[in-house]
Amino acid sequence: MRYILASNNKGKLKEMKAILASLGADIISQSEAGLELEADETGKTFEENAIIKARAACEALHEPAIADDSGLAVEALGGAPGVYSARYGGCTTDEERVNLLLKNLEGVKNRKAKFVSCIACVFPNGDAITARGECEGTITFLPRGEGGFGYDPVFELAGTEKTMAEISPEEKNAVSHRGRALRIFEMKLREYNADK
Ligand code: IMP
Repeated sequence: MRYILASNNKGKLKEMKAILASLGADIISQSEAGLELEADETGKTFEENAIIKARAACEALHEPAIADDSGLAVEALGGAPGVYSARYGGCTTDEERVNLLLKNLEGVKNRKAKFVSCIACVFPNGDAITARGECEGTITFLPRGEGGFGYDPVFELAGTEKTMAEISPEEKNAVSHRGRALRIFEMKLREYNADK
């Protein structure tokens, strides 16, 4: 069985391929499958957007497609940037988004935040599987570390003094929102395939 990863985000693709390798299935990105697609993320929740992205790739290629919709929810900002994390303030680079976040939190003591990931797989027969994972932490005052992507340099993992950008890819996959969601997803996918 082959699964298409419906994403153009290199950081996400790397993490998703590493974790889903244990499925023993062929996992290829939509661009490797020859599909150039950027689905409109019109959903109001991570779940809705993950399904929109997976369904668009599945319908285009007639193969099962997996998508992640994820983001950062900051308590003091009422859950923002949330589903708008990739488009925060209309910024076009990770660095601009991180700087905007730090600016919006200037003088704010409550730095609590969480990363959320929802994984969806849509099959050509219309069936869908979803799984959600969360990871708690706090927003730092300055970026630290070179690893990861997105908001990783300003997200300090709860119970550690390290940002997501200061840990190895393996350590990140073990504790991250995406790692957690993918492990639940993997279980659900095995159950789904066993029932077929
Ligand atoms: P989308 O799911 O493609 O809409 O984008 C999610 C956005 O949330 C990314 O572009 C990042 O800005 C942010 N994000 C999601 N997961 C992570 C992560 O693991 N680390 C850092 N930022 C993340």
